[in-house]
Amino acid sequence: PNNYAVFGNPIAHSKSPRIHTLFGAQTGEAVEYGAICAEPEEFAQDVMMFLVAGGKGCNVTVPFKQEAWELADELSDYAARAKAVNTLAFRDDGTMVGYNTDGIGIVRDLQQNHGIALQGKRILLLGAGGAVRGVLQPLLETQPASLFIANRTAAKAVELAQDFAEFGNVSGGGFADISGQFDLIINGTAASLQGELPPLPDGCCLAENGCTYDMMYSAKPTAFVAWGRAQGAAQALDGLGMLVEQAAEAFFIWRGVRPDTAPVLAQLREELS
Ligand code: ATR
Repeated sequence: PNNYAVFGNPIAHSKSPRIHTLFGAQTGEAVEYGAICAEPEEFAQDVMMFLVAGGKGCNVTVPFKQEAWELADELSDYAARAKAVNTLAFRDDGTMVGYNTDGIGIVRDLQQNHGIALQGKRILLLGAGGAVRGVLQPLLETQPASLFIANRTAAKAVELAQDFAEFGNVSGGGFADISGQFDLIINGTAASLQGELPPLPDGCCLAENGCTYDMMYSAKPTAFVAWGRAQGAAQALDGLGMLVEQAAEAFFIWRGVRPDTAPVLAQLREELS
C-alpha cells in the first residue's frame, strides 16, 4: 500500500484518516493513512522517520504547519505565501514538496459545493492567525470587491492585509473598525474552539442574502453558525466541507486522481451526529 499520515498534536480526533480511507476506497487507490501525534520538538524528525519507513507524503495540522513550511525543500506558491504547509509530498529522492490546500478547500466548498460565487462580493474575514493566513491568497484570487480582515489584535490584521495587498482589495483593522455590510462573513478565529463568538459590534453587518462560514465545525452548530442563523443568513455554513475539500486536493497531489467529495462529505456529516 501507499502510506500517508496526518501529523499534529493533539491528533486523536482528526477526521483525515477517515476521509482519505474513504477516498482510497472510492477511487481504487491503495492508500493506507494513519495519524501521528508528534512531540513539539520532534516534528521534523518524526516526518523524516515516516519518510524513511516508506511514507509517500503527509498532512500537517496544528501546531506544525509553520514547521512543515520550514522543512519542505520546495514550496508551492500558496504555501510559500502562507508560510504554512498542510500537505507534504515525498519524492523518490527523499526531498519534500510543501503545499497549502486550505485556501483551495474553502473556495471550492463555498463556490462549488454551496453555489456562493465570490467575485465582486464584500467579504469580512475574522481573525489574523495561521488559519486566516493560509486562505488569504486563494480567497483574494476569486476577485471579491473587497476583503476586510478584523482581528482582536488590530495590528496583526493590518500587517496581514499589507502582506497580501498585491492580490486584491484587502484591508485590516480591529473589530471596532468594521463598517458597512458584507455578503460573506468568514470566521477564522479560534473563538469557536472555546464555544465563544468573536466580538462583533452590535448590529453588525450581514447584507441581505449574505452568508456566513465558520472554518470550524462540530456535531452541534458552532456558536458562529448559530449567530449566522440568527442574523438570517441565506446559508450559515461550518467548515466540514472545507476539511473534505482540502483533503481532496492533497489526495490529488499525491495520487493524481480527484475523488468525488460529495458522498464523503455526506458520510462524514452523518458520522458526526
Ligand atoms: P490559528 O492557527 O488557529 O489561526 P492562531 O494563529 O493562534 O491560531 O490565531 C488565533 C486567532 O483567533 C487570532 O486571530 C486570535 O486573535 P488575536 O490575534 O487577537 O490573539 C483569534 N482569537 C482567539 N480566541 C479568540 C476569541 N475568544 N475571540 C476573538 N478572537 C479570538
